[in-house]
This record gives sequence, structure tokens and C-alpha cells, in this order.
Amino acid sequence: MPEGIARAWRVACELNPALPSMREGFFMSTDSAPFQRERALPMAKILITSALPYVNGVKHLGNLVGSLLPADVHARFRRQIGDEVLFICATDEHGTPAELGALRAGEAVDEFCTRQHVIQADIYRRFGLSFDYFGRTSSPQNAVLTQHFYRRLDAAGLIDERGLRQVWSPVDQRFLPDRYVLGTCPHCGHGEARGDQCDGCGVLLDPDELIAPRSALSGDTALEIRATRHLFLRQSILVEPLRSWINQRNGWPPFVVSTARSWLTAELRDRCITRDLAWGIPVPRAGFESKVFYVWFDAPIGYIAATQEWAQAAPGRDWQRWWWQADDVGYIQFLGKDNVPFHAVSFPATLLGSGEPWKTVDVIKGFHWLTYEGGKFSTSAQRGVFTDAALEELPADFWRWWLIANAPESADTDFSVPRFVADVNKDLADVFGNLANRVISFVHSAFDGRIPESGEPSELELELAVELDRRIATLRRHHEALEFRAAAAETRAIWSEANAYLQQAAPWVAIKSDRARAAAVTRTGLNLVRLSAVLAWSIIPELSERVLHAFGCGGSIPDWPTGPCLELLDNHAGGTVAKLAPIVVKIDPDKAAHLAQRFGAA
Ligand code: 2FM
Ligand code: ZN
Repeated sequence: MPEGIARAWRVACELNPALPSMREGFFMSTDSAPFQRERALPMAKILITSALPYVNGVKHLGNLVGSLLPADVHARFRRQIGDEVLFICATDEHGTPAELGALRAGEAVDEFCTRQHVIQADIYRRFGLSFDYFGRTSSPQNAVLTQHFYRRLDAAGLIDERGLRQVWSPVDQRFLPDRYVLGTCPHCGHGEARGDQCDGCGVLLDPDELIAPRSALSGDTALEIRATRHLFLRQSILVEPLRSWINQRNGWPPFVVSTARSWLTAELRDRCITRDLAWGIPVPRAGFESKVFYVWFDAPIGYIAATQEWAQAAPGRDWQRWWWQADDVGYIQFLGKDNVPFHAVSFPATLLGSGEPWKTVDVIKGFHWLTYEGGKFSTSAQRGVFTDAALEELPADFWRWWLIANAPESADTDFSVPRFVADVNKDLADVFGNLANRVISFVHSAFDGRIPESGEPSELELELAVELDRRIATLRRHHEALEFRAAAAETRAIWSEANAYLQQAAPWVAIKSDRARAAAVTRTGLNLVRLSAVLAWSIIPELSERVLHAFGCGGSIPDWPTGPCLELLDNHAGGTVAKLAPIVVKIDPDKAAHLAQRFGAA
């Protein structure tokens, strides 16, 4: 080993004790084990679920960044470090949102759900979401499993049948859920207030408070209050087991822990798990023939059922090893803050209450809201950037990058078109794209597209390698700790470091007087480009792929770098690099004005 390299390696080891010492013979070894660092979740089998998007209509960027996208970034990162990953999602197809969506579309509910499922699946594919399976909560698997849980809970004495008084519509010949009763708000006079909440003033309501109530289905105004019966999950008697279960979890964001704890009080209410709807999973109990399970009872069970769908879709897949007596699995759920109570309390109550050895979540990664130019994203008001429209305008990776770099992890984050345009132009075009295109076009003009072999690394490359070793270790720690903004910031810092190196080493100047030096710098620069693409792959997979493709190594999961950077930066001498068209085209002022006009808050 040249003395200069050995010296740099000693410096690197001092800075980063995780690096193996030279005595361990690391340079001779291709074994990456010495580079394994301690992880937030140490298991190598990782189950990832993203909150299941309601089927009724295309989701907005807030939905994307609040669960689906960070789940994808983490799944991709885990695959890169060699973990076995199962990433599951599905459309949440029951409940009033689906029924009302179908009603508005004038379609049968099952047909509406099938159509919407296909639309959403296609959008997520185009966003690069790498689900192992994207299922449906209306699947037969979910019906069987939901009824199974109900029977287990009932046998354990955790289901209570109670009498209630509810709104009945003689015209519709059915009980109406609160959302199906419309009328005038007694607080603000809004004429379209719903029986659960007024969108005019935000006040929570009961249907009998509405002035001039009517059915949302038929407009029937002759509504009555009638007695009916429903089933309740007795969460209140599970408070202690749930509290001790939560106390055994680690790595939850503080606000998720405090939300969960705030629910686990003596006031924890038993949850009504049945509804008077036609669409949903039937309740296998005498007297409940016209009722179905509440959507929030069957939706999280859908995580398991979608895994069963995945298993049945191809031979050799075993859903049980992920969910049944699966102590060797690390399970992470990604979801928005409104979903925390259901995942930290109600779903665990179902799983623990069953008395069976189901896998429960290890880490709940909750997110705050993405706000939209100072206000709320809203599906019902069609306010905000919707995922289909986003893809009509710009490549998925532009959105992926901005959303992850600005993920609402510890507080709400505001989306605005000018900020989005400025960040994407700077980070992706000026820093990442410029790095890749500049070095690759130089190797074509100066070395015919071959990675040059001559020249030795100098002090400058040694310093760069030490810095990169440190930064890559930091980046990996951020990913493992589910710190998405920090991971994006570190990724960007690595790109900047690479650009700064090239600026200083300037192969285009060196080539005039010292071809060997220019060769060494070009080789280092190309390896930097490749490394930058590998490290960014989980966040911007498509842009990263295009760069890796130029190196002839696209099309598969790029392994996380495990060797010392000094070696990685001196790699691939003699190989070729294909020409690369500009990979990131800046958003120009005309396009920015168009986006502001299309997406700007009214
Ligand atoms: O809030 C929502 O969008 C729900 N559809 C999330 C369900 S997550 C899980 F429990 F299914
Ligand atoms: Zn109101």
C-alpha cells in the first residue's frame, strides 16, 4: 500500500472509529461486515407499511410525504444495505369516503373502488414507489381476517353489544352515519354542514344539532331518531397492557409517543367497530345482517391481508414469517399524525386482544402536515397540488427530492411554488446535475469516454476520502434513524463536497500541463459522480438510475458503499462511461409562472 494512502487511512480511522484498522486486513477483504454500524432497528428483516390511502380519489402531495414517500425511501435504503425488506401498502376501500365517492360518480361502489385503485396504483408506480405489493382492503383475505379478529376478540370478552339511538331515513330505508346527515350549522349558518363536523367553522357536531337536517343520499328531510345496536371494542380494559406495550417500544418521534400516551388514560373510550353501511365487511353475528365493520377496524388489518395477497400472487412467498411469531422482524409504520391513535392504540388493541402471536409495530414514524401556501391541503376542496397533476408538470424525482428534503418531521412544513422551484433548481440542477454532466462530458472531450488509468491520488484526494468516509457514515445514521430531512441535507452536502473538489482540482486546467494529474482527478471525479448517484438513489431513484446507467451499472439496487472511500474513488480505471444528456433541466421562469398559476393558492 502506498505510504500516502496508509497515512490517510490512519487519519480516517482516528476520525471514525467504526472503520477497521489496517491490521484487520480490510484492504484485502471484500467482506463488508467490518462496516456494519449499530442500527436504530438492528434486525435485517424489515417490514414496512405506509398508511393506506383512501380509495376515493387521487391523493395530494401532503398524503404522499406524510406516509407513502418516506416509507419508499426507507425501503429502498434498507434494500441497499442488504436487508430483506417487505414493503406493503393498499387502498383503504371501505367506509363513507368510498360510498360517497361512488355516489358522486354515479357508479356501483365495487366498480368505483376498482377503477380508483388502478388510478392510484399507476400514479404511485410513476412516482417510483417500490411496494412489494399494493393490495386492497376490499380483498377476500381482509374479510376473512377481519372476521377472524372479531371472533377472537369476542371470545376473549372484549366485544360489547350496546344500544344506541341513531338517525333513520324512511326514504333511504336505512340508518345514516353522521357524515350522511347534512344541514345548517347552528354555529356559523353554513348550509352544507355534516352531522359529524362543519367545514364552515370546523366545530364538531352531532347530527341532531343540525338545523333542517336532510339525508346526503336522497335529500330526505323526514329523518327520525331510532334505536339500533352496535358492537364496541372494549379498549378501556386494555389500557394497562397497551401502556406496557408502548413502554417497550423505542425510536418513536416524541410527538407520536405523547399522542399515544395521551390516549392511554382512564378516559380511553371503548370504540364502536360497526356501522350501518351497505359497503364493507359483513359482521358475522345474529342481528347484524345489515351492518358492516367500521372502516378503521378493518383498514389496519389490511396490512396483514395485503401481505397475504402478496404471498398468494407468486409461489414461494410466506406471509406468516412477517406477521406470525415474527420476533426476528423489525416493523416500521409510516403515517400522518391524525392516524397515530389508530396505530398506537386501536390496532395494537386488536392484535394484543386476540391473544395470538401477531407481530406488532416496533417503530411508528409519524409526520406532521404539509401545508399549502399557508393553508391546508384539502381533498374535499381540491386545494393543493395533487399527485396526478404534479406528474403532468415535472419528473417524479423533482417532487420526491423537495418533499423529502422538507418532510414535516418535527413540525408542519409549508409548500410554496417559489420555494419549490428555487430549491429544485439549486439542489438538483446546479449541484447534482451539474456535477454529473460536467465530469462525464469532460471525460468524453479529454479521454474518449474511458476512465483514465494513469496518475496517483494526491493529498487532495486523500483529504476528500477522509471527509467522505465521515459523511457517508453520517448519512447512513440519518437513514437508519428515519431522519429524512437530515438524510437529504447530508446527501446534498456530499454533492457539494464533490463539486468543490472538482472546482479546486480543475482537471480541465490540469490537462494542459499534466495529463497524469488530470487523469487522476477525472477518475476521482467520475467515481464521485457514481457514488453521489448511489447515495441519492433512495430519494431520487430515476435520476440516479440515469447516471448509473451511463456507468453500465443501472437496473438493479445499487449496493450501499462499504469500502473506504480512498479505494472507491480510485476505482474502475479502464472502464467506459456513456455520454449523458443533461439530466436535470432547470425549471425556467415561464414554467415557474405556469406552476404558480396552476398550483398557486387562490
Ligand atoms: O387516514 C387515512 O388516509 C386512512 N385511509 C389511513 C388508514 S391506515 C391503515 F390503518 F389502514
Ligand atoms: Zn359552522
